[in-house]
Amino acid sequence: MTEQHKDIYPVRDEFAQQAWIDRDAYQKLYRQSIDDPDSFWAEQAKRIDWIKTPTKIKNTKFSASDVDIRWFEDGTLNACYNCLDRHLEKRGNQTAIIWEGDDPKDDKTLTYRELYERTCQMANALKELGIKKGDTVTLYMPMIPEAAMAMLACARIGAVHSVVFGGFSPDALAQRINGAQSKVVITADESARGGKFVPLKDNVDAALTRDGTDVVESVLVVKRTGGEIDWNERDIWFHELVDKQDKDCPVEEMAAEDPLFILYTSGSTGAPKGMMHTTGGYLTFAAITHQYVFDYHEGDVYWCTADVGWVTGHSYIVYGPLANGAITLMFEGVPSYPTPGRMGEIVDKHQVNILYTAPTAIRALRAHGDDVMASSKRESLKLLGSVGEPINPEAWEWYYRIIGNSKCPIVDTWWQTENGGILISPLPGATDLKPGCATNPFFGVKPGVVDNDGNLLEGATEGNLVILDAWPGIARSIWNDHERFIQTYFSTYDGMYFTGDGCRRDEDGDYWITGRVDDVLNISGHRMGTAEIESSLVAHEAVAEAAVVGFPHDIKGQGIYIYVTLNDDFDPSDELKKELVQWVRKDIGPIASPDVIQWTPDLPKTRSGKIMRRILRKIAANETEGLGDTSTLSNPAVVEELIANRVNR
Ligand code: PRX
Repeated sequence: MTEQHKDIYPVRDEFAQQAWIDRDAYQKLYRQSIDDPDSFWAEQAKRIDWIKTPTKIKNTKFSASDVDIRWFEDGTLNACYNCLDRHLEKRGNQTAIIWEGDDPKDDKTLTYRELYERTCQMANALKELGIKKGDTVTLYMPMIPEAAMAMLACARIGAVHSVVFGGFSPDALAQRINGAQSKVVITADESARGGKFVPLKDNVDAALTRDGTDVVESVLVVKRTGGEIDWNERDIWFHELVDKQDKDCPVEEMAAEDPLFILYTSGSTGAPKGMMHTTGGYLTFAAITHQYVFDYHEGDVYWCTADVGWVTGHSYIVYGPLANGAITLMFEGVPSYPTPGRMGEIVDKHQVNILYTAPTAIRALRAHGDDVMASSKRESLKLLGSVGEPINPEAWEWYYRIIGNSKCPIVDTWWQTENGGILISPLPGATDLKPGCATNPFFGVKPGVVDNDGNLLEGATEGNLVILDAWPGIARSIWNDHERFIQTYFSTYDGMYFTGDGCRRDEDGDYWITGRVDDVLNISGHRMGTAEIESSLVAHEAVAEAAVVGFPHDIKGQGIYIYVTLNDDFDPSDELKKELVQWVRKDIGPIASPDVIQWTPDLPKTRSGKIMRRILRKIAANETEGLGDTSTLSNPAVVEELIANRVNR
């Protein structure tokens, strides 16, 4: 999708002059960060207020037999203190969070002091519920300031938060509550998105009927919409418990390597993995990347449109910006409601300077035509960012020209849940931009390109993207499953972190991310394992076998294409297709909604029984010319049949 583009947008002098990092600084600091990580990161650690300053900086092992990653290991700190307390003296009355509701009439701001006091009250409330250092708390919340407060309140008392995206189903939520073994769940009655209400509390109730969730003792419920909900003995109104608490709460002293949060993400096989991020390295990395990639300066209004249920929300709505004392905008709704011009209207209303969003949102706006932004001027903007999937050059140009009025650099930031923060991205004062290109590694990040045998490739080339050494923000493990962490990320190519992405490095040494090379889908920037969708489908009584692949989709980037073989007693029908779509939506969540279902009597398999997804992907993409060698299949005839019955969308 990311065609190599000939246009280059050079760094503007006016931007470089005021930027934290210009070309020379980038070259110099990047070299230092790679050649002497200890001195580079010891210096950067000064951006954090430590309780005990670390003397040991980097102590990391990347090998298939032993992965052990420690940064700042003898330091101690508290992440919440760094995001709130330390700002009180200088900017207690400055806005910390601007909240914009789903309804354009709803908004509010919270100063650092207000956020501090509410967070302390919430931390005291969690303590009253028996939460102690090391316990986990699951959050299943709307995009409201209470979500950020809940994360920070956990961090304050040393509890580990596990945020579950509010679009996930009760089953998906139950699986994650069980994985984290949380005694407390924090939710709201409903969330409001695009004028519709999502029954979060009902979903929690349903989740808690599933096996493995008995561990939950209390459900703390924020009253957001006032919608009707059932009430159980374990339920507690948030305001009733929190409002009466003390507005101060001491911070827990945490070791740099104590866990800060778990965040579940999908892989190519098995159940979602609870990525475990720790405190010192993560916070340092979130803060430095937020400052330099977005060139954040004091007083800038910064808006990341992600949901706190994803890692982008963790690092770039909450931890990075608040650690930097920034003004961070939190938006409850969807960018196209009530009108497609909403995003620009929010920019004007709050005079947003930095906008960080996803290619899928840009493509959806672009589909309305250039006039979609006519209701706003967006003159306050000075920088744009993109994240979550490859941005096609057409969407990039449109973002630049229409949203950014042809004057804002775009940082195309590549990274993953596992990474904690941005790994490859332009720095706006230092890097010439190429539409669709993530360009250069951030400080301390050493990318490599390998062939399928793990040989490192030199110069301009194409292959699999690996990272050759540890950076402070990398996840340390999978919650309770270190072996799986090693297997998933370090066993494909020994001694290297395998990203699962393909990439091209051009003659200038710039990196172009081409998308996943494993069985992970990226639907509107939401990451999903084909295995999860397949196992949901085969649990339906009609389905004998299912194979799921992605196909190119104009707005979503990728759509979900499903091949289904039915059990003998069932016949294909449009009703059954609808039923299967509903089944998957209910099982995983609306983000996993299948776009296409094709019935097939059989799936193409190797003689050892492995499904040949490469062939299925090509058919779904309508690239049936170069299917390659199909003679090794156990059932080559099925390919013709699949092509003949391909479903066009
Ligand atoms: O395929 C890459 C894609 O999103 C994946 C990571 O998804 P997730 O863990 O949900 O994190 C998303 C936001 C950090 C990657 O493996 N991806 C993310 N950003 C980009 C991207 N692909 C191309 N360009 C990007 N800027």
